Amino acid sequence: MKNLTPPAKKERTTVISGSGFYVPPQVVTNEMMGRIMDTNDDWIVPRTGIKERRFVEPGIGSAELGALAAEAALADAGLTAADIDFVIFATMTPDHYFPGNGGLLARRLGMKNTHALDIRMQCAGFLSGLQTADAFIRSGMYDRVLLVGSEVHSGLMPWPESVWDVMLGKSAGPCDPFWFERATGMRDRAVLFGDGAGAMVLEANAAGDGRGLLGFAMYTDGEHWDKLYVPGGGCKSRPFFTPEMFDNLGTIPIVEGRQVFRLAAQLMPAAVLEVLAGSGRTLADMDLLLMHQANLRINEAAQKVLGLPDDKVFNNIQNYGNTTAATLPIAFHEAKVAGKVKQGSVVVFTALGAGLHWGAGLAVA
Ligand code: UT7
Repeated sequence: MKNLTPPAKKERTTVISGSGFYVPPQVVTNEMMGRIMDTNDDWIVPRTGIKERRFVEPGIGSAELGALAAEAALADAGLTAADIDFVIFATMTPDHYFPGNGGLLARRLGMKNTHALDIRMQCAGFLSGLQTADAFIRSGMYDRVLLVGSEVHSGLMPWPESVWDVMLGKSAGPCDPFWFERATGMRDRAVLFGDGAGAMVLEANAAGDGRGLLGFAMYTDGEHWDKLYVPGGGCKSRPFFTPEMFDNLGTIPIVEGRQVFRLAAQLMPAAVLEVLAGSGRTLADMDLLLMHQANLRINEAAQKVLGLPDDKVFNNIQNYGNTTAATLPIAFHEAKVAGKVKQGSVVVFTALGAGLHWGAGLAVA
């Protein structure tokens, strides 16, 4: 019986046997964002590094993007969905309030005999998923886990399709002044995020070859819960949702940007050093650091704190914006394709996000 916990198999490690990602084809440049709000390249690039992001067509959700990324990761691992024992789906932008995306993904991939777990830990969701997958695999509970991080942030943008059409050049514009003003009121957040999905296949490795996920240093500090959160909607409110919440932009995330920036630049490097030390390693042993892609300047600050040369980090926020739970698997796959992750490479993942949750994980690829 697959779902009864067997005795722990301590000799097992967890290897990343496949990875892949999917981003929607629609590119939205900073100039295009500037068609519907008061913003431009000159503000966005120096402060964030972001040049463009992708947004889905209406009607496409994060479960579907996740399925497309999962198919790419399964193909990379030489497996099919039928080979997977357990699904972990990390997202903060699920298709529905419930059920979560895990079951929707399993249905979409035709999985009939798979248990699926949903994780909603925002920017740290994929890292937490890696830790969870590793614990299940090392315990002997499962041999093959599919881990997906996927987001459709465009669903959080409150404007109507006529405004999207102006942004995308499908209508000549100008943008309705009412929506231009409202969008400008959330420009500090709207320009940061993009839609996308990434996935990994994690498998048990009993070869004793030193490969695998070798440690995690994970933290939560709920004192900072209100630095990043969505005030409107949720069962603490009765009723759950009111039209006033929408009118007051209550469904738009609050981002205390400067405080999060400062915390990320301190706490991610500390977690990286801790996880390296935990496996008896130092920065000199690390081949590549993959950081959550929230802001290129945060990652440059963290790189500076750690004194790392450019060839030990990899950033792609320039092309995708912040894709929340999808940033780490997308960065991992692109770094792998670029030849920066080879068998035996020591790769450290780190992330910080709403919760606050943060941490680091170490893998020998
Ligand atoms: O993954 C975790 C989630 N991510 C984060 O929490 C992001 C972390 N923080 C950051 O990346 C940065 O704090 C931001 C990029 C969000 C903001 O940078 P900032 O330098 O802290 O800017 P600010 O929000 O303090 O705004 C400075 C000025 C303001 O104008 P005034 O009041 O000085 O006249 C803003 O209205 O820049 C204005 N501004 C913009 N102007 C043009 C804010 N957003 C924009 C924009 N375009 N998109």
